Amino acid sequence: MNQVPLRQSIIDNCLRMNEIGLNQGVAGNISVRDGDVMLITPTSVPYDELRPEDIVEMPLDGEYGAWSGPKPPSSEWRFHLDIMRSRPDVQAIVHSHPMYCTSIAITRRAIPACHYMIAAFGGKDVRCADYATYGTSELSENVLVAMRGRTACLLANHGSICVGRSLSDAMWRAVELETIAQQYFNAMLMGNVAILSDEQIETVRRKGFSESYGGMDGPAPE
Ligand code: 13P
Repeated sequence: MNQVPLRQSIIDNCLRMNEIGLNQGVAGNISVRDGDVMLITPTSVPYDELRPEDIVEMPLDGEYGAWSGPKPPSSEWRFHLDIMRSRPDVQAIVHSHPMYCTSIAITRRAIPACHYMIAAFGGKDVRCADYATYGTSELSENVLVAMRGRTACLLANHGSICVGRSLSDAMWRAVELETIAQQYFNAMLMGNVAILSDEQIETVRRKGFSESYGGMDGPAPE
């Protein structure tokens, strides 16, 4: 199979996440499942210099951490690989350092059900994974815990991760999460933040939310 279009779509979405202000510089990384391999951005390469052949290939089930390509994989390959290995429904992962998600993650708070669109993330909130140094297996373990029953999480003092059934689905979710984070941030400045009940969020999820939005509304709740 010709992988070039898929590799190019990773580059296009990296450029897009910087253009729309979801991310900046060489922060962030994107991966996509392609059969039994994961394609992921290389570490520390400016997105406007990336060529399809620079995208790194890693086996999903072979030797853990093995990679092929002219440059090494993103320093965050562990959480990308661990999410894909433990969640067969996940086809793509977008990790970025967006302003509002990261601001909330610096306070180490979850984003609660301040907007009904939180249902796009599989439950009543988007948790904040405990802090660990970037690129470590400890961070990956913390991410897997925070992502249980969810399609996104914040990373303490770091950023956010969103997954999807396709790369466009994961990108849609990353934009949506940053939007909710900004709304929550603004509402907190104003005070009197009203949070929807678990039942109100369940009602949204039962309305066929996933079908309406053409994406995943999260795995079975934990
Ligand atoms: P990489 O350039 O290694 O992908 O790292 C960017 C980043 O955001 C680490 O969390």
